[in-house]
Amino acid sequence: MTVEQANPAHANPAHALPRSRILGTGSYAPLRVMPNAEIERIVETTDEWIESRTGIRRRHIAAEGETTSDLAAEAGRRALQAAGLNVADLDLIIVGTVTPDSPIPSCAVLVQKKLGASEIPAFDIAAACAGFVYGLTIADQFIATGAARSVLVIGVELLSRAVNWTDRTTCVLFGDGAGAVVLGPSSMSKSDEPPRSSPPGILSTCIFTDGSLAGALNIPAGGSAHPPDEEVLRTRQNKVHMNGQDVFRTAVKQLTASSTHALKASGLTSRELDWVVPHQANMRIISQVSHRLGFPLTKMVLNLEEYGNTSSASIPIALDEAVRDGRIQPGQHVLMCALGAGISWGAAVVRM
Ligand code: UT7
Repeated sequence: MTVEQANPAHANPAHALPRSRILGTGSYAPLRVMPNAEIERIVETTDEWIESRTGIRRRHIAAEGETTSDLAAEAGRRALQAAGLNVADLDLIIVGTVTPDSPIPSCAVLVQKKLGASEIPAFDIAAACAGFVYGLTIADQFIATGAARSVLVIGVELLSRAVNWTDRTTCVLFGDGAGAVVLGPSSMSKSDEPPRSSPPGILSTCIFTDGSLAGALNIPAGGSAHPPDEEVLRTRQNKVHMNGQDVFRTAVKQLTASSTHALKASGLTSRELDWVVPHQANMRIISQVSHRLGFPLTKMVLNLEEYGNTSSASIPIALDEAVRDGRIQPGQHVLMCALGAGISWGAAVVRM
């Protein structure tokens, strides 16, 4: 039995009125850009290999002293500004990250402090590349139950400090960055917004995990099972390890399946979709998902070339860019889908 069949309740089916909506988006990437040519000087690789196998040409790398919560707070500020809200309007902060500043406190706690928010709850979601879709799902539920009105959801990673810079199979893939959205009730309209025939909102979400694949992508040591010691540090077991092909195969299959699931739950057909914002892991994965969904690549929001794989940050960065440059317009339907370590994955359909 698939996870989907076992727990259909985690899909939020189409409802006459969506419960929550995206009020604003924001993103931030560190200023320093590392092109593939620079990685050629670090490990035995080539610009040609990286670009042809992944689609990545460069990535952004945090400056010394710059932290995960710094990136997250800046993306959060920009999302709040776009939403036309103040930090005092927030009821909850959710941060998807697997690279927090430190194990305790959570990154969300530091974001709360940096934004100057009051005593609102703030917590992290450790769902790796699916962290943003997980965060969005949770925030939607908080708003649906009336437990929160305005929620800041951030996806952020500082992977340049989590990869093994001597392992060419992983270090070429990742980058640093943060993206954010502010969610509010679907009935809430922004001051400059004309009335709509169909209200904006999150139409469906679905999230899944298959723990039997936990070993396919992980940081094997540095936690309670293998606390960091000299051996762990020497063998770099505290850095990202991945069986790329296992993750690749699972990604193509489950991104397609969860996208189909979320689309069905939204009550829309693929023809009614305007954009897909996929997790930016590998251009070959995205091409195969596009083919299987029967949805053209030209309607996929892509920025992998510029940022590499920023894990939980990749969808909200791409979403923010497409909103700001006018590709994504109010009233359009957007599907987001992500998969990463866990293996955890999910999808969401949103009317902007
Ligand atoms: O966001 C989380 C989810 N993560 C993903 O979705 C990643 C999924 N996996 C992938 O994107 C791909 O599997 C990779 C990009 C990681 C690897 O691409 P691949 O086509 O699966 O390559 P491969 O692992 O089959 O390796 C092919 C060859 C190997 O050499 P041999 O054994 O054929 O001689 C590797 O050693 O490429 C070699 N190789 C490299 N060569 C140059 C691996 N990494 C590199 C490199 N530069 N950076």
